[in-house]
Amino acid sequence: MIVAEFITSAIDAAGFPKERLRELACVGRSNVGKSSLINALVGRKVARTSAAPGKTRLANFYRVTPDGRSAFHLVDLPGYGYARGGEAAAREFEALTGAYFGARSGMFLAGVLLLVDGRHPGLESDRQAWNWLQHLGVTCHVVATKVDKLSRTNRVRHLKELERLHEAPVGAVSVQTGEGLKELWKTIDTLLRQPLTEPGHPPR
Ligand code: GTP
Ligand code: MG
Repeated sequence: MIVAEFITSAIDAAGFPKERLRELACVGRSNVGKSSLINALVGRKVARTSAAPGKTRLANFYRVTPDGRSAFHLVDLPGYGYARGGEAAAREFEALTGAYFGARSGMFLAGVLLLVDGRHPGLESDRQAWNWLQHLGVTCHVVATKVDKLSRTNRVRHLKELERLHEAPVGAVSVQTGEGLKELWKTIDTLLRQPLTEPGHPPR
């Protein structure tokens, strides 16, 4: 049993929850499946999803308590690459994600799940996001989404390509078939067990 509840939506740092829990943030292009994956992980529809990109515009915090383990925050951040809002939306996105990582990395953030569409490995925007996360020094696990939509050949090819780009194992998930969710929970548990480092204070 996993208990999951919506805590709050924040538009800026003032709205982030005060409760000091470990956090795991979902990052990725708009429409890649961040909110859907959160729902699939907790086994309940806590996050709103949509076939149209740009659904999640705020930072949404969920408090998740897996059976017999400590509670943590799962954070659904707005997606990047949502064209319709133009410059203003891009600035809004940058301000909010910048504020999020500024306020939370080190103190709270145990890791980031960087979601990339399994059908489109190596997109420029995803590579930029990955580089940016590397630069911040946050632990980042890449997850390929929507793998139910891939042919067997492309599946192998795309996952290999992603692992080559990120020089790390890449998870493959589908919220349609449930594939990869168990494995992803194992990765999440490992991320949550890591000691947190404060910015400017490397681990001893
Ligand atoms: P934003 O909130 O706009 O940033 O998007 P998001 O990343 O939260 O995407 P969301 O979870 O809303 O999903 C976008 C669309 O992709 C929805 O229509 C989902 O049903 C669909 N989708 C998500 N995951 C999968 C998957 O594993 N397989 C398939 N076939 N569709 C998926
Ligand atoms: Mg969303």
